[in-house]
Amino acid sequence: MPHELNLILIGPPGAGKGTQADRLREDFRMPFISTGDMLRANVKDGTELGRQAKVHMDAGELVPDELIVAMADQRLEQDDTRDGFILDGFPRTVPQAQALDDQMARHGRRITGVLLLEVPDEEIVRRIAGRRVCVKGGHNYHVDYDPPKNPGVCDQDGSRLIQRDDDQPEVVENRLKVYHAQTSPLVDFYDTRGLLRRIDGTRTPAQVHDHIRAVIATLRLEDDV
Ligand code: AP5
Repeated sequence: MPHELNLILIGPPGAGKGTQADRLREDFRMPFISTGDMLRANVKDGTELGRQAKVHMDAGELVPDELIVAMADQRLEQDDTRDGFILDGFPRTVPQAQALDDQMARHGRRITGVLLLEVPDEEIVRRIAGRRVCVKGGHNYHVDYDPPKNPGVCDQDGSRLIQRDDDQPEVVENRLKVYHAQTSPLVDFYDTRGLLRRIDGTRTPAQVHDHIRAVIATLRLEDDV
């Protein structure tokens, strides 16, 4: 009986987490939980959470921990996460990581591995400037690195491609500052627990994908020992 695989994907904004999510979803039958996507869905639906979150997101700041932890807790309680999950964009602060540990412990579960996508700031700025997302499914493209077949149109669902509100250069600068100040302490947090696996995110999406698959295969083997 295979053990559940509970993974976290962390990395700076624009490191390629969403790009890899699309690929990993096809490889593994486990839910890919992106707090950024969940927040954007709340903003789109005009919920109270979305209204509160939008102010922070548009400024490139983090949404307050208590809102995020409540949202993530609720999602992780759902049955489809029972055999494992991949978290993207959560936790993003040490208090969020501690809340996640508590949540896992309450259910007799634990995190299996944390994959860190490493990309330098100057490459992040290039990637985010050229990023386009589709209005329907949120699929990711880049005008130079990963262009759609027809400019401005999503290959997967035919919907329009747009720039995200928080991809304006001044907001990106703030998102990077916030990442270094509030999220990068998680690297030590998980490294000291022996959970961190580093991935070179500067290579092509296909190479990054291959590396992640290899790391996940190793984690599975280690967990079976
Ligand atoms: P979120 O949506 O999580 O944004 P993020 O972490 O800033 O990450 P991005 O979605 O910008 O980038 P990505 O790593 O997915 O890169 P992508 O694959 O698109 O969060 C948004 C906001 O929500 C936050 O700012 C915050 O306000 C709030 N929030 C979310 N979670 C929170 C939490 N836990 N606590 C508090 N607040 C929270 O790639 C980028 C571009 O590069 C694309 O164009 C892509 O085509 C291209 N690309 C990707 N890989 C490669 C490659 N290998 N080579 C060349 N180009 C590539």
